[in-house]
Amino acid sequence: MPLPLLRSLQTGRRWRPGPVLRPAVLAAGLAATLLHSGHLAAQAAPAAPRPTQAVQARAGMVVSASAIASQVGRDVLAAGGNAIDAAIATGFALAVTYPTAGNIGGGGFMVVRFPDGRATTIDFRERAPAASRPHMFTDSSGAYSARLHHNSHVSVGVPGTVAGFELAHRKYGRMAWRGLVAPSAALADTGFVVPTGLAASLAGVRNKLGQYEASKAAYYKPDGAPYAAGERLVLRDLGQTLGRIRDAGRDGFYRGTTARLLAAEMQRHGGLITEEDLARYEAAEREPVRGTFMGYDIISMPPPSSGGVAMIEMLNILEGLPLKSQKPDSPQYLHWLAESMRRAFRDRAVHLGDPDFNAIPVAELTGKDYAATLRAGIVADKASVSSPADVRQGYESDETTHYSVVDKDGMAVSVTYTLEAGYGLGAVVDGAGFLLNNEMGDFNGKPGLTDSTGLIGTAPNVAAPGKRMLSSMTPTIVARDGQLVAVVGSPGGRTIINTVMQVVLNLIAFDMPVQQAVNAPRVHHQWLPDRLTVEREGFAPATLDALRAMGHEVRVGGQQGTAHSIAIDRKTGARLGAADPRDRDAGAAGHN
Ligand code: DON
Repeated sequence: MPLPLLRSLQTGRRWRPGPVLRPAVLAAGLAATLLHSGHLAAQAAPAAPRPTQAVQARAGMVVSASAIASQVGRDVLAAGGNAIDAAIATGFALAVTYPTAGNIGGGGFMVVRFPDGRATTIDFRERAPAASRPHMFTDSSGAYSARLHHNSHVSVGVPGTVAGFELAHRKYGRMAWRGLVAPSAALADTGFVVPTGLAASLAGVRNKLGQYEASKAAYYKPDGAPYAAGERLVLRDLGQTLGRIRDAGRDGFYRGTTARLLAAEMQRHGGLITEEDLARYEAAEREPVRGTFMGYDIISMPPPSSGGVAMIEMLNILEGLPLKSQKPDSPQYLHWLAESMRRAFRDRAVHLGDPDFNAIPVAELTGKDYAATLRAGIVADKASVSSPADVRQGYESDETTHYSVVDKDGMAVSVTYTLEAGYGLGAVVDGAGFLLNNEMGDFNGKPGLTDSTGLIGTAPNVAAPGKRMLSSMTPTIVARDGQLVAVVGSPGGRTIINTVMQVVLNLIAFDMPVQQAVNAPRVHHQWLPDRLTVEREGFAPATLDALRAMGHEVRVGGQQGTAHSIAIDRKTGARLGAADPRDRDAGAAGHN
């Protein structure tokens, strides 16, 4: 199917004569582009020094947002578990130690590459409950309600994490399920020492979580004070729920006590999820979306994520440009990035949604021919126009988490999962101790409603019973000549796709060691609003001036994503774990 191009993308505007482009000045090179701020909201403690070296191990590696959770996964690898086992154990541990995004009440995606080169994905994205309707986020007068869409029990999707882990384990795991959940049940039950990032984060979300009694009781002291770093946090109800999952598998979550508690929570707060919705939830195994870039194989998540498709579309556009003639912080390169992003995000908005409900032209969008057409519309030194109408796609928060696992045999697992906003809805299920997602906010707000406040109402991503909401999560694996090269991913709403792509570009086009590829500063463009956001630390003022002179609206923003990645040393085969320093509690844990 030929894909229509936006005419406006092919011509530039707002061009004004500017200074002659000059190579960016990065005084001390990328090593000086320190990104000190942490991922979490409140930033009380000084940031840890930024690592310049990845953690090395011969056999296995886990890198996640929580050093405690990475260690849980690493121990599973050391005990003979494979990368799937370790990913499941790490995921359950993050639900305890990284409550901002680690979860059993949310959902996500897992991309797996086996040692023989085959690959698969597990889709455990949340689904809309059976009572969902296209107009479910409108109030009694028919007006769109952001509160219903993002901040009410109606915004909770049927969680997928436990079913996704169970499916991955049943098909590809090696160790007994019990042993994968038990460490997390114990962590919650006996407590863990609160790390600095979590302490700061919980202090910062006191008002949000404080709206719900069960959240207050779980995450704050009896007098309402937050836990300080170094104190012990015990999560007893969560420990009980994890115990049920440990003992009964997915039924410990989707049936019986946990399901009853969740359904009762919904009834008390006007939510839609019923015990039947829970019992009917199924995760799905899907073929990965694949592309190639400069001789490397890119294996990523297909719809209902937009991530893999959009990233491969962008990489295809960029592959035809002389990337190696540029520095990764040069205005010319950043302009190419912005123009590729603009085009792919436009296609994301138009074409992508749940593949079980839409025909999606994946092959066309990820094809080299289509990319060539798009590339031809890029003007070397001036910004295109996104659209005559100032339309954006709506709210997405910045709180998800990604982790990467490689085992001794070379099996690689890339997992990104989320509650959507930080701590999801902020509501802990009373009696069950886990946080609920607010993922329904990733559906379009109202059919046909596309307006300048940032809403979009195109058909592929309108809510319907059982449907999965469109995601940007981009867990990705890179290989070459049959060998594993890297495992990458990130949180960050729509910025995820661009963050992951830039780590991949840094590794492949600029040959950076993995820790530098992760640390390097990043940019984001998402078609609309028509602006290029750059991380505060890392780009020289002259670079930003040069981009503005090309017609880009450049906005300096905070940190973009946290891409906990693993690369394989080409010569030695060592696993190189690069925790992203933008996440304060992150850690890489290897075993030899
Ligand atoms: O699935 C998505 O694309 C969003 N719900 C992810 C949200 C997110 O990344 C927030 N995090 N950092």
